Amino acid sequence: MELTNIPYLASSSSSSFFSSYCSSTCRGRRAGKLLLTASAAGGRSAADLAHSQLFEQENEGALSGPRSSWHYKRREFTSAILLPFLLPHADIASAAEAYDGSIIRSGVRNVLTKAKAAGVLRLVFHDAGTFDVSDKSGGMNGSIIYEVDRPENTGLNRSIKILGKAKAGIDDIQKVSWADLIAVAGAEAVALCGGPEIPVRLGRLDSSTADPAGKLPEETLDAAALKLAFSTKGFSTQEMVVLSGAHTIGGKGFGSPIIFDNSYFKVLLEGKPQTSSSGMEAKAMVGLRTDWALTEDDECLRWIRIYAEDQARFFDDFRDTYIKLVDSGVTWRTA
Ligand code: HEM
Repeated sequence: MELTNIPYLASSSSSSFFSSYCSSTCRGRRAGKLLLTASAAGGRSAADLAHSQLFEQENEGALSGPRSSWHYKRREFTSAILLPFLLPHADIASAAEAYDGSIIRSGVRNVLTKAKAAGVLRLVFHDAGTFDVSDKSGGMNGSIIYEVDRPENTGLNRSIKILGKAKAGIDDIQKVSWADLIAVAGAEAVALCGGPEIPVRLGRLDSSTADPAGKLPEETLDAAALKLAFSTKGFSTQEMVVLSGAHTIGGKGFGSPIIFDNSYFKVLLEGKPQTSSSGMEAKAMVGLRTDWALTEDDECLRWIRIYAEDQARFFDDFRDTYIKLVDSGVTWRTA
């Protein structure tokens, strides 16, 4: 059965389950109870197994989140009681079957902190950024679970482990794909650090295998090569520049590591790190070579200036391009 409406999940803390219900009709629940779809309910997926193995390798304990599933079940009950009053003219039967995005969002919020936000946002790019428009391979499909041993993904196992805790709690209520979970978590990470609120469409299916290797841009690329790399993923130069603004959070030295703002672009305009008398780069820890490479290209520089001067414009464009990123190469649920 094809979905008639696909749920969008606003990352806004002010968007209650009301907005989620009103915008969603993914099949999965019936009359306030959970009925898992065939694809979701078929026991442990290959991704779940790969994730467990990752945990076992690290000799970690149980995956249960900090809040008990009772919290979610109480929410389910409340939702079922209130639903008829919140949906005056809607098809109640359809809405009651909704795939409840608020459960995913709550589960993510339970495990996410500002300090963990950057790693989670990076995870989004490393899952979705394998997309290749030419053969439609890769994309936002949760395959990052199988790719943690690749050199470009060093350190991302920590973020996967964090989201694994959320997934265990959410799966108790309704099965969530890794791809949906990562897409929502990245949006939550941005919002938590003060960035734009990003609605995320739900219903991504997970891949059961790793994506082709070598698809993410290397740190050594110059602007021309970066443009080419992003164009193979369907992104324009402007979209590449605005997505690179994600480096404003995290450990690369652009402003505060936990505040999502336009300081990335402001710092880039301040100029390259200066070499001190000792021969050491005074700001050696600021940015990657690829970040500075953007300043050497006129087209990129034009966008860097725009975003440095206009944070609202940065937020708007980042939101739109993030949505495009997390929808890259997606196979959507149809039942
Ligand atoms: C332009 C091509 C890109 C390259 C070559 C690149 C490469 C890197 C590298 C090498 C790091 C440092 C990882 C570490 O500290 O261990 C990093 C960090 C990060 N990247 Fe990118 N990246 C690119 C684009 C993006 C995009 C498009 C996003 C998201 C939309 C993103 C999100 C992040 C975030 C949030 C961090 C900080 C992670 C942390 O400090 O924990 N990157 N990136």
